[in-house]
Amino acid sequence: MSERNKYSRVILFQSYAGIELQGDCPYKSCYAKAVSYGNAANRLDHISRSRSFYDCLRNPSSFMTIITFMALWTALLSCNICAANGLAKGLIKQSVSQQVRATNDHQTVQNNFMTDTTGGKDATGRKVQALLSKMTLEEKIGQLNQYNGDWAATGPVTRTVQDKLQQIREGKVGAVLNITGTAHVRQFQQAAMKSRLKIPLLFGMDVIHGYRITFPIPLAEAASWDTTAIKKSARIAATEAAAAGLNWTFAPMVDIARDPRWGRVMEGAGEDPFLGACVAQARVRGLQGKGLGSLDAVMACAKHFAAYGAAIGGRDYNSADMSLRTLWEVYLPPFLAAEKAGVATFMNAFNDLNGVPATANRYLLRDVLKGQWGFKGFVVSDWGSIGELVQHGYVMNDQQAAAAALEAGCDMDMESHSYIRYLKQLVQEKKIDPALIDEAAGRILRKKFELGLFEDPYRFIDSTRERLTLNKPENNAAARDMARKSMVLLKNKDHLLPLSAATTQCIALIGPLVKAKKALKGFWSLNIDPNEQIPSLWDGINAEAPKARLRYAKGCNINDSLRLGFQEAIEAAQKADIVIMAMGEAPDMTGEAKSRSNIHLPGVQADLIKAVVATGKPVVLVLMAGRPLIFNWAKDKVPSILYAWWSGSQGGLAMADVLFGKYNPSAKLPITFPRSEGQIPIYYAHYNTGRPATSDSDKLYKTGYIDLSIFPAFAFGHGLSYTTFSYSHFSWHYCTYQNQPAVAVSFALKNTGKIAGAEVAQLYIHNIISRPLRPVKALKGFKKVMLAAGASKNVTIYIARQSLLSYNEKLEKNVLPQRCQFLIGSASDDIRLKSAIIDHLFEKPPGGTR
Ligand code: BGC
Repeated sequence: MSERNKYSRVILFQSYAGIELQGDCPYKSCYAKAVSYGNAANRLDHISRSRSFYDCLRNPSSFMTIITFMALWTALLSCNICAANGLAKGLIKQSVSQQVRATNDHQTVQNNFMTDTTGGKDATGRKVQALLSKMTLEEKIGQLNQYNGDWAATGPVTRTVQDKLQQIREGKVGAVLNITGTAHVRQFQQAAMKSRLKIPLLFGMDVIHGYRITFPIPLAEAASWDTTAIKKSARIAATEAAAAGLNWTFAPMVDIARDPRWGRVMEGAGEDPFLGACVAQARVRGLQGKGLGSLDAVMACAKHFAAYGAAIGGRDYNSADMSLRTLWEVYLPPFLAAEKAGVATFMNAFNDLNGVPATANRYLLRDVLKGQWGFKGFVVSDWGSIGELVQHGYVMNDQQAAAAALEAGCDMDMESHSYIRYLKQLVQEKKIDPALIDEAAGRILRKKFELGLFEDPYRFIDSTRERLTLNKPENNAAARDMARKSMVLLKNKDHLLPLSAATTQCIALIGPLVKAKKALKGFWSLNIDPNEQIPSLWDGINAEAPKARLRYAKGCNINDSLRLGFQEAIEAAQKADIVIMAMGEAPDMTGEAKSRSNIHLPGVQADLIKAVVATGKPVVLVLMAGRPLIFNWAKDKVPSILYAWWSGSQGGLAMADVLFGKYNPSAKLPITFPRSEGQIPIYYAHYNTGRPATSDSDKLYKTGYIDLSIFPAFAFGHGLSYTTFSYSHFSWHYCTYQNQPAVAVSFALKNTGKIAGAEVAQLYIHNIISRPLRPVKALKGFKKVMLAAGASKNVTIYIARQSLLSYNEKLEKNVLPQRCQFLIGSASDDIRLKSAIIDHLFEKPPGGTR
């Protein structure tokens, strides 16, 4: 049994074996409201500090803020009355019933620290200060320490600690990870409640694309370009995770990745900063729901800050080296978007950035994140990354590592044990300022207050809620819908797809992934229920085409050289009307530490495809993987190719939905597919160079290869539908959008085919002249539009002036292109409409020069 499976089983056992006797508090919802109103008040407080009252009045959105504030204040007053009422009733009830949730433990917590009940300006801040003033140095350092749970690890275990529960009882631990299931979480929280100050623990886990119900991997979800669906997927994941006792997930990963050799490309939203920022916001909003304090929300964590996706050579954990301008233009936008969406935490990256490890990178953490961006949450290191400063060669030992990370702005130490071992000594030797420890502890405690853990440390621990929330049928339906929205139809020659369930008589299903079940869940699915019924592609097709005769031949394994099954596969194909081949990677070929130098279809799968295509039967290829793969022969010779990624618990049904036309595919690639590893990194938003090549025959003294095409196998934004769309009536004008100067770009979109379908219309800016240079093409907006057969719609996409600015050499964001053009396309390489060339955008009226 693999380590991960063992782990999942233990989790499962613990979640179901645990018996809980806690009842439900009748005043819980009132508490929740008070907390969320408190959070809203804090946010408003932040806004009011950053703008003058006059500014607010001048600015209608801020004026709305004041109105909202007044409304909230009224609500807060009534909630206070209700809370007081509730508390009184609660006390009576407590004396007569054991059902009251508040334990003696947490009552003490409240008595000690809930002294500030005025709800005034930054009440949480005052609570934090009050608590800090009661804490010893050791207890503050304890808050900065995060341990992995007691049996499973999602990183290398370099130090074993036998007495974690005892350390928790001593107040030496602020958070744990990889403890899940209410019964198990309770055990740890109870230990924390035995500590002197009874400060509750945070419980974190990598809930990356679903908790129990697994959604498609994040890269696949990004292919949907459907931020509403992505938000919903995150919402469901958070609801399940919170019901299982967690209050923190280490997601979303918002690293831009332009190198598909890097195994973690699966975890992000692909190569583009604009799409990446939209997806980052959707995920944060989905995970954090109505705000921390809601029982169905968990803290999100924007990771890995920063530039982890730019690992040189695609080798995980490798250095990233780039201009600060590239950092700001390409790698930081999704992080900034996550911060703006209110993400509660950030995680450091493992890599060094331009020679300074991200975990000790004061520029990233103090100057940018906590300074310029005003981030109020806390930063957690990545697994062991503080200790790894020694391996980087940045410091001599763990003690220096602890000092460097804390000074740089890393608030919590995940699993390197450096803070807990050395910070006290560093303070005593006057090597670090104790105020840094207060700051870090304060940030962490603030989140614990916002989560409502001081009101009730067990509020996320309710086995009944856990049982009722996990695996809800409607959430399975959402996972199926997300999966089909994520699958990209790469090719469909002569409309081979969709297949007809009524007329297809015999289908040969060939390939090592036809019957894959658990594999569909992909790399980061930690909470697998061994009894979960996961439909495979085979099951999906059986259900979709019950009258068809299905023949199965595995043909080969995923990654070895055995060809013993080829003959059986060929015979199955020969006897069928149509062949569906399911090929790809093994799920553990992408993910953390899963970089590959060779991203061709592994093993002998490409040869099996050739052998089956040679039968002359029509072949549909379904590819499952966590990264862009290379499959050039199949790309040219197989008529229909569906890229299904790792599509989650319901992926088998979703694939059948798409193959049989129950769902008309609408996904578009969020990342470029190369033809060869030699092209990597390859991405659409490149600069022009002084000697640009325009075609593969244009090679002499040009930016290209003498032995390889410069064009990708499939471009960013590519993805077909079973219908067709036409674009017409292009226009653009200046406008005000959300109180900002903007341009509005409009066009008509028509479904010119015979069935309903959704098109992701993409708006790019073509930068012709700019100082400094800008990419030849950059995505600036998109809209996913559903149209009935024959229907058309006028579509308008707004772009704020702000988002058309780029950075100058001094990193000031004030450069507009001197000459540019707006492009509307169905893909980055399929541009359908162009504006005239525009000189001096925002300075001259629309119309352009040519
Ligand atoms: C990964 C993080 C993850 C952490 C905890 C690390 O190895 O890089 O993304 O959140 O482990 O599992």
